[in-house]
Amino acid sequence: MSPPPTPGAPPPGGDRVTVDCVVNDRAVHLDVDPRLLLSDLLRHELGLTGTHVGCEHGVCGCCTIRFDDEPVRSCLMLAAQADGHRLTTVESLAAPDGRLHPLQEAFGREHGLQCGFCTPGQLMNALDFYRRAPEMTDPEIREAIGGHLCRCTGYAGIVAAIRSAAAIEAERAGEATEPTEASG
Ligand code: FES
Ligand code: FES
Repeated sequence: MSPPPTPGAPPPGGDRVTVDCVVNDRAVHLDVDPRLLLSDLLRHELGLTGTHVGCEHGVCGCCTIRFDDEPVRSCLMLAAQADGHRLTTVESLAAPDGRLHPLQEAFGREHGLQCGFCTPGQLMNALDFYRRAPEMTDPEIREAIGGHLCRCTGYAGIVAAIRSAAAIEAERAGEATEPTEASG
């Protein structure tokens, strides 16, 4: 009689699956355990530790990333499901020169974070609707972030940040198009 399987041990035969995907505009090719979670692939295989893991069962929203530009909870997906898809994580938000995304700047200005643990998930979710947020009511914004638990802020700062990000973006666009004294 064969011994019972050890919890957490790889499946018999040590099968691996190939994952080809694009993460933050970089092509990724990996052979992984078929049971590896997508959140663990990002954090442990790719070193993208900006994706946080809280509950690991789809409740807190900390692990939210963009999957073909839709927000998904990476703790509820297998790494193998990323094959052929395009993923973005919080590491992609800031510009290459380090300038923060307007949403990130808004979270700083409006005190939308304290410990920051929930923030990457909040940001990757809010990318969907921050440009519409100035026309949304507070209850509508609260509903849109309803799947994201924050233990620190009481949410008021998060709502204010999401509401103000589009204005920061517009400010920057204005700065970029203003004529300089030399050119004017
Ligand atoms: S860690 Fe994924 S939803 Fe909580
Ligand atoms: S800022 Fe601490 S959990 Fe949200």
